[in-house]
Parts: sequence; structure tokens; C-alpha cells
Amino acid sequence: MKDRETVTFRVQRYEPGRDAKPVWADFPVAVQAGMTVLDGLLQIRQQLDATLAWRFSCRMGLCGSCGMMINGKPGLACNTQVHDVARKTLRLAPLANFPVVRDLVADLRTMFAAHAELKPFLVRDDKAGIEPGAAEFLQSPEELLKFLQFSYCIKCGACMAACPTMALGAGFLGPMPLTAAHRYNADSRDQGFALRKPALAGPRGAHHCHYAGECTRVCPKGVDPARAVQLARRDLLLDLLRLKRRRPAPAPVAEPPAGEHKAPIEAPPFTARAD
Ligand code: SF4
Ligand code: FES
Repeated sequence: MKDRETVTFRVQRYEPGRDAKPVWADFPVAVQAGMTVLDGLLQIRQQLDATLAWRFSCRMGLCGSCGMMINGKPGLACNTQVHDVARKTLRLAPLANFPVVRDLVADLRTMFAAHAELKPFLVRDDKAGIEPGAAEFLQSPEELLKFLQFSYCIKCGACMAACPTMALGAGFLGPMPLTAAHRYNADSRDQGFALRKPALAGPRGAHHCHYAGECTRVCPKGVDPARAVQLARRDLLLDLLRLKRRRPAPAPVAEPPAGEHKAPIEAPPFTARAD
């Protein structure tokens, strides 16, 4: 392979309110082995057009902000090497199924509103463990495995852009918020199922999923949102049949005396999946 090859970045440009419709703009980018799509975009901004808009922050697949359509598939610009997806032309567009703010910047507010609606935090009936220093709740490795992989979500929105049900525009809450809801419902410390149930079981909730599985195929973090949604549906069915027992509050464990060390619970491997 040559040291540097020119790849044409064909980028969708659009500013609602100013432009009549999106147009494609071509930028020649000098690409070398290992270069990411984000590196290419930075090259465009530094050398060719400083007005090109996209979102990024961490540059290491952690913050979730650089999600975009890369050759028609949702992915992270900082986590995708150019030569893995293109040799001559690379098409970049904002994440599908969201309005456009400008160029490659999608407006993710509907996703975060749905996320908030599903109460993505630990809910407790008591105050123990919530008031600072009051108590802590031990969890077995098996209990941890029930939600661990779902907690790896970085809220990038790739699954939302890949979802054919989202594309119907019928207000489906979407794979990311539903995965976050199941992550907490499956947590042995949580007692918030009843609080999340109206949104989870409602017309925009888990039963709206057609189980295409595209969300899981595109997730850059190895999360399985399709599985989370199906497990949420199972929980709703068990609840309907009154088979889902209300989770008793785990007994709080008193804080150890100052200076006393407790062995940490070892986290299971990243790839492990359990329901
Ligand atoms: S589940 Fe995966 S694709 Fe969806 S928002 Fe989370 S990290 Fe992104
Ligand atoms: S810049 Fe943070 S995930 Fe890509």
C-alpha cells in the first residue's frame, strides 16, 4: 500500500432555514494507514473548509458525540478507520431518523427526552444508600451480569439511526432509551419498575419494537439493545400475569470502620451477556 492515498470525502452539507435542501460536497483527503474518519474531517477543517460542522469530543469512542452515517451505516467517526470502509469515496451524512442541526450534526433531543422519560437512574423506596454515607448495597457477580453489558452504552444514537421502527416516525421511544430502562430494571438495587412501566408499556414503548435487530448490529460498544428490549417485554408480560415479584429492598450493609479495606467485586468480562 502507498504511504498516502487520496480518498474523496463526500459530505452532506445542509443548514435548515438557509439551504433549500441538503447537497453533497466533495473534499479530497490524504489518507494514510490507521487514519480515522474523524482525522479526515479534522484535515478538511484545517486545510479545506473551516465551516464544516460535526460533533466530537473524546476521540476515543467514549463520549458518543461523533455518531454519523458512514457509507450509509451509523457509526463513530473516531472509531472507524477510513481504509476499513473506503478506498476511493467515503459518504458522510448526519445520523438518520433525527432532524439536522447543520451538516453532520444531528439533533438528538428526542432521544434524550425519551431517555429521561424512562427514569434512567436507581430508584429506591427507602433513603438508605441515597443519603451520602448512609449505607451500601452488595451485589453478587451474577446480579451484576444481569445489567452489566447494557451499562456500556455511550448514548451515541447509532442504534436509533439504524432502527427501521424509528424510521416510521411514529414516536417510538427507541432502542437506546429502552436499553437504559432495562439496565435499571435489571439492577438488584433498583425498585423503579412501577415508575418506568407506564412509558415502557405505553404505545411508544417496548411493544412497538419489530425486532429487526439492526440496533444490535451497529452498536459500536457491543451492547445488545435488541435483547434489552425483548427482556423488557418479558418483564412487562410477567408483571401483567402477576408473576413478577416486587423486588424486596436488599439489606443495607453498614459502612466499615474508617481505614478498613474491603475487597472489590471483580467485574466479569466485557463480552458476557446474561438476562
Ligand atoms: S446502545 Fe450502542 S448504538 Fe445505541 S446509543 Fe448505546 S452505544 Fe450507541
Ligand atoms: S469523539 Fe467521542 S466517541 Fe467519537
